[in-house]
Amino acid sequence: MITSRSSRSAILRLGSASAALLTSLALGGCGPVDGPTYYSDAKPILDAYCVDCHTEGGVAPFPYDTAEQAAESAALIAWAVADRAMPPWDADSSVRPLRYDLALSDAHIATLTEWADAGAAMGDPADEATPIALEKGGLDRVDVDLTLPAPYTPDPARADDYRCFPIDWPETETSWISGFVGQPDYDPVVHHIVAFVVPPSAADLVHGYDDYSDGPGYPCFGAISPTDQITDDVINTSMLGQWAPGMEGIALPDNTGVRIEPGTVMVLQMHYTTVVETLAPDQSSLGMRVEHDAPERDAYLVPWMNYAWYANPDTMAIPAGESGVLHSHQAELVGSVQTQAGGAGGTLDQGAVVHSVFPHMHKIGRSFALTKVSADGAEELLLSIPSWDFDWQRDYAFAEPVVFEPGDQLRSECWWDNTAEWRAEQGVTPVEPIGVTWGEGTYDEMCVALLTVTPPE
Ligand code: HEC
Repeated sequence: MITSRSSRSAILRLGSASAALLTSLALGGCGPVDGPTYYSDAKPILDAYCVDCHTEGGVAPFPYDTAEQAAESAALIAWAVADRAMPPWDADSSVRPLRYDLALSDAHIATLTEWADAGAAMGDPADEATPIALEKGGLDRVDVDLTLPAPYTPDPARADDYRCFPIDWPETETSWISGFVGQPDYDPVVHHIVAFVVPPSAADLVHGYDDYSDGPGYPCFGAISPTDQITDDVINTSMLGQWAPGMEGIALPDNTGVRIEPGTVMVLQMHYTTVVETLAPDQSSLGMRVEHDAPERDAYLVPWMNYAWYANPDTMAIPAGESGVLHSHQAELVGSVQTQAGGAGGTLDQGAVVHSVFPHMHKIGRSFALTKVSADGAEELLLSIPSWDFDWQRDYAFAEPVVFEPGDQLRSECWWDNTAEWRAEQGVTPVEPIGVTWGEGTYDEMCVALLTVTPPE
């Protein structure tokens, strides 16, 4: 990787015209070639699966907009796709079909590998293959912009600055959120945006958190409590979801929405990276698609977790030095789901339909699984994340939603690795293992499956 980066900058120093010449000479020019070529084989895959992020000025370190750029990075591309490190899609797509699946097929991986191995030939632009049509979701419109109250310059003392900004929900009547999309302001620092919904009853508490630190917002990590502050507040909050640069807008299931009452506070948690060339203030916003007419069904955001972990963190102990540590939560879904709608509570008691899952652990997480255990004991794996990656959390939507009848159970399983080796790899301090439990701090852990649930049709 280092070789590739340095040779890339060497080529850049030659200027773009000579770089193009150099690359085309090195790669045998544009004549007919036997093996896979950029134009006829690699380009459609890179354009569909990579260029959203790997573009000039994009979030990823190398752009793949042109044949030359792709060819220069070919070896690294082949490595990243064979390793399934890229594109960032951590779910095992063979478990159950997922919507907007970004995983590369084995055939795509083979094509990119062969192309790179054979010298990353460009081929003839006239032979350019038809683009791959990849369904990626997105929003048709944004109705409400929730903007940070003031520009905030991330704290350079932290490589990762996690900061929460409470923002009053502006609508004055009951409304429904049917989708959201991040709108980064100063792109280089924005790593992700998480939105939490806080009911009106807890609005004052959350606004009070702002006073815990100077400047707009306050430091926070796993959820919305202020980091390094002890609060006994129990806030009934749920995560709306997470958005990261390179992602499309995220839409809730068709004809559903999350009910939001006037007086609700939305907390935007920004994950800023300060390892950038120039640090500058950011005033990002989250764009919301909002419905004013009640949708066919309300959608509920259900944090699937064992509340004993929260009440008594030692019940989710991850002992120092141990790997393969498992904590799981299994219970009946229908009836146990306390729905939250802008402060109003209720229970889904006739049945529940799970549309999507957003698994959430912190840094020393290793893998995650979600399983349906039917009333008759039959088990069906719904979602598996074989290699947990804290940086690439996302909501995974099922192509076919999963229906739960009364009596069916749901089991979430989280595995951790608290060895010095894994802690070092994840940048967790101290590297020397210490016992970890449930908590909202950077080096605490969580095990939550945030479910998007509706009543049955
Ligand atoms: C959603 C955005 C996104 C998409 C889509 C994406 N990448 Fe990346 N890629 C990144 C980011 C950001 C990094 C920087 C390292 C990181 O944060 O993981 C990266 C890093 C890389 C690296 C460097 C590896 C390293 O360890 O530094 C390679 C190679 C790569 N991507 C290839 C690809 C290829 C090939 C595709 C498509 C098949 C792809 N990426 C799709 C965002 C993306």
